Amino acid sequence: MKHLHVLGIETSCDETSAAIVSGTGSGMPRLVAQRVLSQARAHEPFGGVVPEIASRSHVEALSLVIESCLTDARLRGDELDAIAVAHRPGLIGALLIGVTTAKALAWAWRKPLIGIHHLEAHLEAPLLTSPEAAAAAAAAGENARDDWLTPPFLGVVLSGGHTDLYVISADGKREHIGGTLDDAVGEAFDKVASIIGLGYPGGPAVERAARGATAGDLRLPRTLLGATSLDFSFSGIKTAVLYLWRGQDVKAPGPVAGAPTREQIAAAFQEAVGDVLVEKLRRALRATGLRKVVLGGGVVANRYLRDRVRIALAEQKVGEFGVPYADQVIFPEPAFATDNGAMIAALALKKFKAGEFSTLDLEASPS
Ligand code: KG4
Ligand code: ZN
Repeated sequence: MKHLHVLGIETSCDETSAAIVSGTGSGMPRLVAQRVLSQARAHEPFGGVVPEIASRSHVEALSLVIESCLTDARLRGDELDAIAVAHRPGLIGALLIGVTTAKALAWAWRKPLIGIHHLEAHLEAPLLTSPEAAAAAAAAGENARDDWLTPPFLGVVLSGGHTDLYVISADGKREHIGGTLDDAVGEAFDKVASIIGLGYPGGPAVERAARGATAGDLRLPRTLLGATSLDFSFSGIKTAVLYLWRGQDVKAPGPVAGAPTREQIAAAFQEAVGDVLVEKLRRALRATGLRKVVLGGGVVANRYLRDRVRIALAEQKVGEFGVPYADQVIFPEPAFATDNGAMIAALALKKFKAGEFSTLDLEASPS
């Protein structure tokens, strides 16, 4: 089959991104060009994403981001094979900017339009390789693993808006088997960072603060919701941090006397999140009998959590026969864990091959 070039557009939250990915729809996609413009500085004063600011920033940046990709790829728009866009879930105003732009380009260039589910795309990200990693792998004589995403597997999305477990069955069908009852895990990172004054976005800041620190005897709650639940709850841990940091006066501007350090809280928080994740993923593997885990979403950029999950699921031998819980635990490169256009385009290549196109009345949807 011919090598296709697909433009992927991502505007579901606070990253304005576009990418051009090429491939045949089976095997490894190749990243031809990508731009990711983070709006973090625009949202930072507010300690979280402000939807109106996100929409306005996408409007201002998106055409330039797309043009830069085309320039980098040395392609004209009408040389592309399809235009793909994340159309759900996300902030409705933000999604609309991407969807409207994608429709206009598809119409103007007379190319097929492909609407992409953002969470499904997060689980496609492990197939993406940065030019640096591709060069390093080639130098080491390693082959790309194009069987990585062959189902069945346990799909895990850990992001700012989602904490979801899915069974991806052998026929590719997706079944939701667990999710958060309150805050998403990335949201908990962001809120904890905001409470202890680490700024926004909180995930990378908490990871940095925790690096080299230890929790000591500080132990934050692990909410497991009974013995068999596959759901998550992170609001208790956030509240525990709030009381630790500000005492009874939760509106206090800073830490109360005797509060642990930021670094200690960051380490204790990551430790607790790691424990919860490991326990929930083990439960999910036991309940489903699956042996492969694919993770995606911004929180999966966290190296501490990657190590915890990889070691607990794939390296530690358990039970009387001494086998690990999983045969394979698959992560995207950290740069492809957070929102990006390449994962949108990569999934679109598969949809193209399967003949799954959208029409120009494609709608954006928050859910
Ligand atoms: O997937 P993503 O870019 O956007 C959504 O779809 O939500 O995820 C963003 C979330 C934010 O909550 C951010 O704080 C978190 O991912 N995040 C991290 C790290 N990098 C980003 N959380 C923990 N450690 C990180 N290194
Ligand atoms: Zn995302």
